[in-house]
Amino acid sequence: MAKLFGQFRFLAGALALGLLVAMAMPAGAQRNPDGSVNPTAQSVKEQQLLNALGTGGAISGRVSIPDQKAANLIHPAGRDWRYFHEITLRWIGVIAIVGMLVILVAFYLIRGQVKLESGFSGRRIVRFNGFERFVHWVTASCFIILALSGLNITFGKLLLPPLIGEQAFATWAQYAKYSHNYLSFPFTIGVFCIFLMWIAGNIPNKVDIEWLKEGGGMVGDKHPPAYRFNGGQKMIYWIVVIGGTLVAVSGYFLMFPFYATDITGMQLAQIVHGTVAVLFVAVMIAHAYIGTIGMEGAFEAMWDGTVDINWAKEHHSAWLEEETASGHANAPPRSRMAAAK
Ligand code: HEM
Repeated sequence: MAKLFGQFRFLAGALALGLLVAMAMPAGAQRNPDGSVNPTAQSVKEQQLLNALGTGGAISGRVSIPDQKAANLIHPAGRDWRYFHEITLRWIGVIAIVGMLVILVAFYLIRGQVKLESGFSGRRIVRFNGFERFVHWVTASCFIILALSGLNITFGKLLLPPLIGEQAFATWAQYAKYSHNYLSFPFTIGVFCIFLMWIAGNIPNKVDIEWLKEGGGMVGDKHPPAYRFNGGQKMIYWIVVIGGTLVAVSGYFLMFPFYATDITGMQLAQIVHGTVAVLFVAVMIAHAYIGTIGMEGAFEAMWDGTVDINWAKEHHSAWLEEETASGHANAPPRSRMAAAK
């Protein structure tokens, strides 16, 4: 009897050992039914584990400090976000910004500057008053610094340390971060002022459709009529208003982390902020091109606030008619030399 019992114990022990070995063989779980290796088998198991735990997509422990977020051990969505931040966003940025620069250089080489065909008349008309120019330049200056300091977060640590060294990069990145935070406030106020002061001239109308069909006079030699702002300028206006609002709202979520949202909201805010920002930079490069070397006679509009009457005739004929009818187009004649002085 004792011998039988001993044999039974041996059999049960062997069975238990076999079961244990079978369960502890991760390699088996890594294989497909045909025996080939399944490299994602582990992540599938991770997802099953997360579902089974029902912990909202994370594996958490327990902590005694007030910040319960510190209890998260594994949060797979964080890996997706990191991939976006380290890889996807950089590609979107490079394609948008470098792509835009390439297009503009090609456009300049092929089309050249849009010249003032009828030449300068010497008579000028006021286009933007002092307050409009002040708001434009404050917002634009903030934008440039926000763009450089923001792109430093996306590309800086990849490009700069090999060039300037880690210590110098750390110092620069710290000042860049301060300027990004503080200049966000005047930038937000600037975008809001732009929205209010130019909305009246930026409601789309039929003339814009014709203007766009004619390629805005940029392609070909025609000069399609336009009111104070043409179809292209209206697009820029709405990109600034909508893009500016998106970067501002998402930016404040990032600046005050976890005050108004959880980790998923933070990741979303960063994705919106980074993506809109790099596209915004690409569009603003095109805007700056047209306002400077792209079009003869355009820059003065935002510099001293006036444009030549012939420039207004060629690019904003409907606006010039309105201004003439209301008596605003009769500013005293002024030579370009006098303006330059
Ligand atoms: C109200 C306006 C804005 C606010 C409040 C704001 C705030 C922020 C904050 C808090 C960050 C995260 C910084 C960090 O991780 O330490 C950030 C990142 C960034 N910002 Fe802004 N920002 C604003 C406007 C802009 C503008 C106008 C641009 C560009 C034109 C811009 C471009 C960027 C970029 C590229 C990043 C880095 C994205 C990344 O790689 O993660 N921001 N911003």
